[in-house]
Amino acid sequence: MSQYQTVCEQLKQNPKTWLVTGVAGFIGSNLLETLLKLDQTVVGLDNFATGHQHNLDEVQNLVSAEQWANFKFYEGDIRDLEDCQKACAGVDYVLHQAALGSVPRSIADPITTNAANITGFLNMLTAARDACVKSFTYAASSSTYGDHPALPKVEENIGKPLSPYAVTKYVNELYAEVFARTYGFKAIGLRYFNVFGKRQDPNGAYAAVIPKWTAAMINGEDVFINGDGKTSRDFCFIENTVQANILAATTQNDEAKNQVYNVAVGGRTTLNDLFNSIKTALNENGVTYTKEPVYRDFRAGDVRHSQANIEKASSYLMYKPYYDVWRGVSNAIGWYINFLNKIKD
Ligand SMILES: NC(=O)c1ccc[n+]([C@@H]2O[C@H](COP(=O)([O-])OP(=O)(O)OC[C@H]3O[C@@H](n4cnc5c(N)ncnc54)[C@H](O)[C@@H]3O)[C@@H](O)[C@H]2O)c1
Repeated sequence: MSQYQTVCEQLKQNPKTWLVTGVAGFIGSNLLETLLKLDQTVVGLDNFATGHQHNLDEVQNLVSAEQWANFKFYEGDIRDLEDCQKACAGVDYVLHQAALGSVPRSIADPITTNAANITGFLNMLTAARDACVKSFTYAASSSTYGDHPALPKVEENIGKPLSPYAVTKYVNELYAEVFARTYGFKAIGLRYFNVFGKRQDPNGAYAAVIPKWTAAMINGEDVFINGDGKTSRDFCFIENTVQANILAATTQNDEAKNQVYNVAVGGRTTLNDLFNSIKTALNENGVTYTKEPVYRDFRAGDVRHSQANIEKASSYLMYKPYYDVWRGVSNAIGWYINFLNKIKD
């Protein structure tokens, strides 16, 4: 039995109370679904800045009525310390996901991104420390590697940030480290690498590449590739990310705390390969896309290649990603076809 399976079994036997911030978003709502299915009690906090009520409604439909009754939602803002304090009360484990994602959004509006991602983070860290929670796990980001050229990325070698978003995520790590030093409050940061899967928003100017392209192909629209298509990423299916969060939150290993970890698969997929994978997966689900991608300029702030070394998470947290890109894409495609058809109806 893997460590993840063991932990899930233990949680079922001995349920805990979790706070998921950003619970109406993509990663937050997937964490919510898994935790409720494990019969945990979950408190959720979200201000619907980029999250959606329909994500919460969908989770409600995927769990039993008893499990849904274990969920308490606060509509609130992490920029408000009182909202954070209210949400942290009586909580065992915090999974802090709320933030404004997207490099281009942060370039267009660094002040709003800074407020949610830095002030909001500091509020959450303070509220969680004061509430004496058992653990605090937060969404860090691969963008922290910035202009460091080495591949694959190892946690201790970072470069200069390439966007305001990257600055905010790095500042999170600095605050977390300082909270360990000054207050003995040890958090764990998970540097996500391009997470994808069901409920990742395909709409809006700041949609991520997989949902954006999938939606474009389903709707028969052009798919735009920024650059030559040889840009590569370590795309990580949501179930791997959920696993990393649960393992980090529950780790009993003191050395594993006050650390940051790469959360990815350890692979490298070019945008050209990704285009072909999505096209093939759609084809297998009865959706034919015949257009070629449209290449345009590289996008400001984007790194050229990204690939994680996941040894640290494997050895300290026993993290073992079960889904490679292809398995993840095939898994997510059915959800996008249903979701986009529902919107059309
Ligand atoms: N998706 C990825 O590939 C990826 C990669 C690296 C890091 N991350 C980080 O993971 C976390 C979750 O990202 P996601 O992809 O689920 O994005 P998302 O936009 O779907 O979810 C973020 C959630 O946070 C909420 N939120 C934003 N500002 C808030 C505020 N001030 N108060 C309360 N709630 C607020 C939003 O409404 C949304 O529901 C973020 O911290 C993001 O920076 C994501």
